[in-house]
Amino acid sequence: MVTPGRAPMCDPVGSSLARLEPTQLGGLVTDQLARLCDIAQLDRTDTETYVQVLAASLGPAATRSLALPPSAPTLLSDDHTPVEYSLAFLPGATPALRVLVEPGCESGDLAENGRTGLRAIRAMAERWDFSTAQLDLLEDLFLPDHPAGPFALWCALELRPGGVPGVKVYLNPAANGPDRRAATLREALRRLGHHQAFDALPPADDHPFLALDLGEWAAPRVKVYCTHDRLTAEQAGRYSRLAPAEGRDQAAEFFDAIAGVEEHGSPTRRALTCYSFTDTATGRPSGFTLHMPVRAYVGHDGAARDRTVRMLERYGMDAGALDRALAAVTSRRLEDGVGLVAYVALVHQDGRAPRITVYVSAEAYRVQPPRPVAAASPHPLATP
Ligand code: TRP
Repeated sequence: MVTPGRAPMCDPVGSSLARLEPTQLGGLVTDQLARLCDIAQLDRTDTETYVQVLAASLGPAATRSLALPPSAPTLLSDDHTPVEYSLAFLPGATPALRVLVEPGCESGDLAENGRTGLRAIRAMAERWDFSTAQLDLLEDLFLPDHPAGPFALWCALELRPGGVPGVKVYLNPAANGPDRRAATLREALRRLGHHQAFDALPPADDHPFLALDLGEWAAPRVKVYCTHDRLTAEQAGRYSRLAPAEGRDQAAEFFDAIAGVEEHGSPTRRALTCYSFTDTATGRPSGFTLHMPVRAYVGHDGAARDRTVRMLERYGMDAGALDRALAAVTSRRLEDGVGLVAYVALVHQDGRAPRITVYVSAEAYRVQPPRPVAAASPHPLATP
């Protein structure tokens, strides 16, 4: 039951949240999250904490009725749900659960949206006692008074056992106008001490996100995302050049398997790559991720699931957990829609075993109907 006057907005970290109904956005996503926490083997206390954190980070959107359309057309997900889940798989381990959220989603005004996002991050920093110094350094660059689109600030939480999440902030390199993207990124990387980082990036058609790790991380990263309109497996391998030779083959093979290149011909796909930087001395990236928007390559989620499972099994990861996660988010048949599995990513990070991350849509507003594969369009990477 919702208690009027206890709007989550007044309580950014959610210590006294009213209960949410399944007919409200916050009710739906917190139910999904609680079931996912179970799959990630988080205990009841942690689950309760993270449910409250998610509800609180949605602000007034948490109590919005699902009978209404989304309050603003966020590009965080295809159906404009301001929440997306992801599972990070490692060989022989329980996957780690993360959730991506747009705290300012209630505001159609980007400047206000960004300010709300910043307040949410600052409230988290206070609650979990971490520094926002790196974000503060970039505030004027990415959150100007009159920002350009297509988004202002997203926050991802890695939901760790113990109730203290890892926090990541996603910022918009086009905030000062699309033509200033490269300049904004260069300046941001410079301020963070990564003077040569920009020059290490592969050729790209766009740079949609810059991400910062905040809080407790073994090695906090700055990440730069690149969009490639027509990537090939060979390029995917080559762009992962920081990985050992084996990593290149892995990226190329992953590309073909998720893109379904053997089945459908056409060797190019729209995809994203992400470079992460931890070491300011060398200018060399310490991590490379290949993000494949699998939903653009398949007719329905059954096919997306099968391709993903093949790769999880290839790496000795718990494919059963993926099936449980999909069932935790929706009761529809996988064949009845496309987009539940939004992205599948192969992550290489210096000195670590490769990881696979699967991004799962909340589908709070809409299920995209299945489509004939021949018509599978490269649509989902929303172009601003
Ligand atoms: N929905 C957006 C896109 O498809 C942003 C996004 C959400 C995204 N989750 C992602 C981008 C995972 C890369 C990887 O681009």
